[in-house]
Amino acid sequence: MPQIRTGNMPLRCEFPQVALVRQIASMKTSPEFWPCIDTWCANALNDGGLRPLTLCERTLLPIVQGGMGIGVSAHRLAGSVAALGGVGTISSVDLRRHHPDLMERTSGLPPGDATRQVIDAANLEAIEREIRAARVLTQGRGLLAINVMRAVSAYGPSVTRALECGIDAVVVGAGLPLDLPDLGRDFPQAALIPILSDARGVQLLVKKWERKKRLPDAIVIEHPRLAGGHLGAARIADLGDPRFDFENAIPQSLAFLRSAGIEREVPLIAAGGIRSHADIVRLQGLGAAGVQLGTPFAVTEEGDAHPEFKRVLAQSDDDDMVEFTSVAGLPARAVGTPWLRAYLKIEDKLQAVSHAKSRCTKNFDCLAQCGLRDGLKGWGQFCIDNQLAAALRGDVKKGLFFRGVGALPFGDQIRSVRALIDRLLVPLPVAASAVC
Ligand SMILES: Cc1cc2nc3c(=O)[nH]c(=O)nc-3n(C[C@H](O)[C@H](O)[C@H](O)COP(=O)(O)O)c2cc1C
Ligand code: SF4
Repeated sequence: MPQIRTGNMPLRCEFPQVALVRQIASMKTSPEFWPCIDTWCANALNDGGLRPLTLCERTLLPIVQGGMGIGVSAHRLAGSVAALGGVGTISSVDLRRHHPDLMERTSGLPPGDATRQVIDAANLEAIEREIRAARVLTQGRGLLAINVMRAVSAYGPSVTRALECGIDAVVVGAGLPLDLPDLGRDFPQAALIPILSDARGVQLLVKKWERKKRLPDAIVIEHPRLAGGHLGAARIADLGDPRFDFENAIPQSLAFLRSAGIEREVPLIAAGGIRSHADIVRLQGLGAAGVQLGTPFAVTEEGDAHPEFKRVLAQSDDDDMVEFTSVAGLPARAVGTPWLRAYLKIEDKLQAVSHAKSRCTKNFDCLAQCGLRDGLKGWGQFCIDNQLAAALRGDVKKGLFFRGVGALPFGDQIRSVRALIDRLLVPLPVAASAVC
C-alpha cells in the first residue's frame, strides 16, 4: 500500500492518484506550501485559524499594511511587512523627504513651472529608490504595493513609475480610480486595487472597469468612521452612515460580486479600526479575505516616521481624535494636536476669505484640486504638504497627525512589525486580552 506524506501526517491510500490529489489539496492549506510567508508567521497563521489571502497567485498573510503619506510608510515599513508574508505598502506622496540629496536639489528654487518639474522628478526618483530598497528587505516574500492617492497631481506619473520599477500592486484611494486599468495596461502582472467604502462604489467601479476589460485584483473596503487619513465619504456628516458598516458593506459587495460571477476573483480587504485577531476573525466571517491596518503599523519600530510621530499616535485615544475637511476636499481624521485645534478655531474665518491664488505657495502643486490654492469654499485652508511633513519629522506643535480610531494592540508601546503581526495572527489568552 503506497504511503505519502502531507505535512507531518502520513496518508495511507489504496489509489495513488487520489492520494496525490489529496496531497496537493492539503499542501495548499499547510504552512510548508506557503513560500511567500515567513515560516514562523506561517505557523502562527495556521495555529490562529485565519484564512490566508491569495493575491497575484501568491498565498499571503491576510494582513495588509496600508499606505501612509507622507513618508510614514516608505521602504523600511513596507519591506519589513512583506518580508513576513504580508502586503507592505509604500505611500507615493512626496517621498523625496526621505532623501536629503533630493530635498537639497528641490529647495530654494524660484517660483514657476520649472521648479514644479524638478520637484516632480525628485519624487519619481524617490519612488524608484524606495521600491528598490523595500524589495531588498522583502527577501522575496510577501507582496510589495504602492499607494497613490487619486487626488494628487502626480497620480498618473507615480503609478507608471512604480509599475516600471516592478511594483507588485498599485492601490489607489482618495478618489475613484476609473482610469487605473489604462495606466496598468502594459503591466498585466501587477495587481490593481481600488480603495472604496461601500457596495455602491464597488458596483460602480467594477462595471466601469469591466468596460475596459479589467477586474480589480482586490478591493479595499475602508470604513470612514474608523480609518485614519482621508476618508471615503462626501461629508463629515456622512461618516456614520450605516451603509459603510462592515456588516453591510462587505456582504452587500460580495452579493454584487457573486451576482456578476466574480466573487472568487476579487477578494475584499476590510480597513479601519482593526486591532486584534478577534477583529480579523469577525471580518473573515463576514466574507473579507483580508484586513488592512494603518495606525498600528505606523507606530511600529520599523515605521518610517520620527519617533515623536509614533509617540503622538500611540499615546492618543478616541477622545483626542478630530474630524475635519481636508484641503483635498475630503473628510479626514487625525489627532487633535495644537496646530489642528488652532486651525479649526479659525477655519470659518479662513474659508470666508478664501480665494484663488495665482500659484501654489510651495511651487509643488501636490494636489490636482487644492482648497487653499484654488480658494474652494468649504474645503480645508491649509497646506497639507507643510503639515504632514512637520508630523513626519516629529514636530508635535506644527504637525498634522492622521490616525484611525481604537486602542492600539500594544497600547502606547512601540513594538516591532513581527510582534504586531504575531499579535494579530493568534488569539490572546483570555486573561491577557482582559489586560491589553
Ligand atoms: C498616518 C496615516 C497616513 C495615511 N495616509 C494614507 C495615504 O496616503 N493614502 C491612503 O490611501 N490611505 C492613507 N491612510 C489610511 C491607511 O492606509 C489605512 O487604510 C487606515 O489608516 C486604516 O485604518 P486604521 O489606521 O484604523 O488601521 C493613512 C492613515 C494614517 C494613520
Ligand atoms: S498649497 Fe500646499 S496643499 Fe495646496 S497644492 Fe500647494 S503644496 Fe499642495
